[in-house]
Amino acid sequence: RAELQVRAVGPEECVVPFLTQPKLPVLQLDSGNYLFSTSAICRYFFLLSGWEADDLTNQWLEWEATELQPALSAALYYLVVQGKKGEDVLGPLGRALTHIDHSLSRQNCPFLAGETESLADIVLWGALYPLLQDPAYLPEELGALRSWFQTLSAQEPCQRAAETVLKQQGVLALRPYLQKQPQPSPPESRAVSNEPEEEELATLSEEEIAAAVTAWEKGLENLPPLRPQQNPVLPVAGDRNVLITSALPYVNNVPHLGNIIGCVLSADVFARYSRLRQWNTLYLCGTDEYGTATETKAMEEGLTPQEICDKYHVIHADIYRWFNISFDTFGRTTTAQQTKITQDIFQRLLARGFILQDTVEQLRCERCARFLADRFVEGVCPFCGYEEARGDQCDKCGKLINAIELKKPQCKVCRSCPVVRSSQHLFLDLPKLEKRLEEWLGKTLPGSNWTPNARFIIRSWLRDGLKPRCITRDLKWGTPVPLEGFEDKVFYVWFDATIGYLSITANYTDQWERWWKNPEQVDLYQFMAKDNVPFHGLVFPCSALGAEDNYTLVKYLIATEYLNYEDGKFSKSRGVGVFGDMAQDTEIPADIWRFYLLYIRPEGQDSAFSWTDMLLKNNSELLNNLGNFINRAGMFVSKFFGGCVPEMVLNPDDQRLLAHITLELRHYHQLLEKVRIRDALRSILTVSRHGNQYIQVNEPWKRIKGSEADRQRAGTVTGMAVNIAALLSVMLQPYMPTVSATIQAQLQLPRPACSVLPTDFLCTLPAGHQIGTVSPLFQKLENDQIESLKQRFGGQAKVSPNPAVVETVTTAGQQQIQTLTDEVAKQGNVVRELKAQKADKNQVAAEVAKLLDLKKQLALAEGRPLETPKGKKTK
Ligand SMILES: *[C@@H]1O[C@H](CO)[C@@H](O)[C@H](O)[C@H]1NC(C)=O
Ligand SMILES: *[C@@H]1O[C@H](CO)[C@@H](O)[C@H](O)[C@H]1NC(C)=O
Ligand SMILES: *[C@@H]1O[C@H](CO)[C@@H](O)[C@H](O)[C@H]1NC(C)=O
Ligand SMILES: *[C@@H]1O[C@H](CO)[C@@H](O)[C@H](O)[C@H]1NC(C)=O
Repeated sequence: RAELQVRAVGPEECVVPFLTQPKLPVLQLDSGNYLFSTSAICRYFFLLSGWEADDLTNQWLEWEATELQPALSAALYYLVVQGKKGEDVLGPLGRALTHIDHSLSRQNCPFLAGETESLADIVLWGALYPLLQDPAYLPEELGALRSWFQTLSAQEPCQRAAETVLKQQGVLALRPYLQKQPQPSPPESRAVSNEPEEEELATLSEEEIAAAVTAWEKGLENLPPLRPQQNPVLPVAGDRNVLITSALPYVNNVPHLGNIIGCVLSADVFARYSRLRQWNTLYLCGTDEYGTATETKAMEEGLTPQEICDKYHVIHADIYRWFNISFDTFGRTTTAQQTKITQDIFQRLLARGFILQDTVEQLRCERCARFLADRFVEGVCPFCGYEEARGDQCDKCGKLINAIELKKPQCKVCRSCPVVRSSQHLFLDLPKLEKRLEEWLGKTLPGSNWTPNARFIIRSWLRDGLKPRCITRDLKWGTPVPLEGFEDKVFYVWFDATIGYLSITANYTDQWERWWKNPEQVDLYQFMAKDNVPFHGLVFPCSALGAEDNYTLVKYLIATEYLNYEDGKFSKSRGVGVFGDMAQDTEIPADIWRFYLLYIRPEGQDSAFSWTDMLLKNNSELLNNLGNFINRAGMFVSKFFGGCVPEMVLNPDDQRLLAHITLELRHYHQLLEKVRIRDALRSILTVSRHGNQYIQVNEPWKRIKGSEADRQRAGTVTGMAVNIAALLSVMLQPYMPTVSATIQAQLQLPRPACSVLPTDFLCTLPAGHQIGTVSPLFQKLENDQIESLKQRFGGQAKVSPNPAVVETVTTAGQQQIQTLTDEVAKQGNVVRELKAQKADKNQVAAEVAKLLDLKKQLALAEGRPLETPKGKKTK
């Protein structure tokens, strides 16, 4: 296929004429072109031999070039040229090695891209070999990396290659070459982990600074016009029309925190952001109500399936309301619209020859007198031997299972052994639709912002080839199948659940087709956990393409990884984890929950909820960073300037800060446009850190007591700071809507500035603006509080079978609480008015004392801990 000539060259020889440094190895092609990175060269050879690039390998190669190589060249240089040892060498490389190790152990495969060696293994092994062949540099604790490295090193071709290059001199063989290289700068540590890092300030050009100052000075005039509210929201030609869905939660369960972050909360952040951009936004969701699980739950609770749905729909709606999820509509799937639209899509598929009929062997429980749906069978996994595999999938190895293949199957309801029976079913002919699907994916995927896990899952389904998929079930509780001979069957929930988005929209507006049959004007964003990807990225698009009715298809498929609880999985039956309804009983405000869940959002990798970490983040990021900054900024204005924003005369340092904040704001926009929700939250915290530093360095509380010039400087710093606080309140809105509203009320931020987030940092609180009453936003979360919550939700020995009941003891009736709440509000107004009138100090103090006393009574009545008195710590 190719002829290869190997030539040894001296360390100084510049083989590639246009490179200033010698670079080895190099591959010179017949065309006269050069390839001069190992990964490019290996890739070229693999392509020559007929290999087809796949996403995972590409990801590894890119990572090797951009992350591993810079770290590795630094490590090798320290070792070989500078004679450093141990940690000094491994230091820069630690993160990269850990990344490889974790990836290997997470996917539980011996090699980087699966069960066999791939291009990725060869390239990474080759890069790492000179260093890791010395056992001193192969970290003991990275077991998966070790065994991967040793497996490859033991192979004969690898040994031969190593010998050719290193000639038994080990890493020293590279010395002559490395000595000719410039000293590498240690790679910057990037934020891969959850820990905030010290940001290095980027260098800014004069133009950038000047532009930032101009935008700032225009202030409110620079705001784009607000979009008028419409009801119902409908697409507008020429506007950006954003349709957002979050996976429909199944109705027979109370959602846990993992469900909330994976779907409704993530989608909510994006919907709120989209509205702040003034995009025309519709956010919808609802409960998925059909299926066996509902029927069974109904039997358990002695209700009808409809009654179960009614009951749980309300529970879901309440939980999401508590979390301040901003649905435009939250519907359900048990509606006439659902039946109509599902049957219509089915008829169209049938008429176009995309529906097959076949006999299916199915498990039937004779004792319960019913066919068993997949999730009502349990048995031993035929692939990995896991004892509690479900009828459709094994939780351990993740493989899809055909229920009749389970070993030792059991009916989950009565525990007897089911028998195999046959029954007629309908199938969606996916193989026949595969070509259309690929064509559509070919147009949609390149350059799009589907999350990498979604691309990977879709690719692997396609690689394995699509098979016809059964769309009917022997059940009563579902959408009826409009075909003779199928009167006693219904559609399988997975065929019709994704159609729920359409029918929910149809119940919201009779003009639903303007959203759902409008692919050119509507951008569809769908949020889900990764187990839902095949149905949204593949099964539904196939149905829609086959139905040939110009459906709007997903443009951004956003899938999260899994959120674990402490060290394990959430489990209702074992009482492990926090469920949506319990979060309310913890007395931790919804916004704090939102903040922490979004902070640990499983974006790109699994993450875990931890009480201790929540306490840490609550106290460090929220209280000490964000809360502290915003509170200080407001307090300076009230204390030093009578609540009136002072004149600002910006010096070059202020102007540079302005430009840095604009830069960070742009970064925030870029991240959210790519739906990188967790990373964008880091931007908010970075802005607030800049703000804290700014106050710390300029010490307005000292300058206010100084000369005229000092006082003016204190004014400028205070004015800048309170404007940063105003910006933060808007950036924070998608994440913590209530806190955001509180800040905006305290600062009396003008209405238009609350509802739109421009790409420049503007002066929205100009000199002379009067702010309101400032008070601390957050409280400290105490250790013993967290310990008791851990006990309560931990899944250890439980005293009460029903944990939700244990602590809901209130010391007062609802009536009394309501009365006190009203009085607090009234007294609050009295105080505000007096302050606004600049009334006598003593009079104000007396009314404030009354207010505090009322608040105390209210806290007691609600059984809340008292607010800690405001310490002198905050200046
Ligand atoms: C359908 O919409 C109506 C209002 O238009 C509402 O009252 C009803 O609850 C909705 N039904 C469902 C199932 O969402
Ligand atoms: C599909 O909808 C778009 C509007 O989004 C329209 O321009 C186009 O003509 C429609 N195509 C068909 C085949 O109806
Ligand atoms: C921490 O949690 C407590 C709830 O106990 C809450 O009241 C407080 O506002 C939170 N503190 C911060 C800094 O978020
Ligand atoms: C969030 O929800 C609470 C309680 O349901 C409500 O009082 C508050 O106004 C909501 N905040 C926002 C910003 O919607």
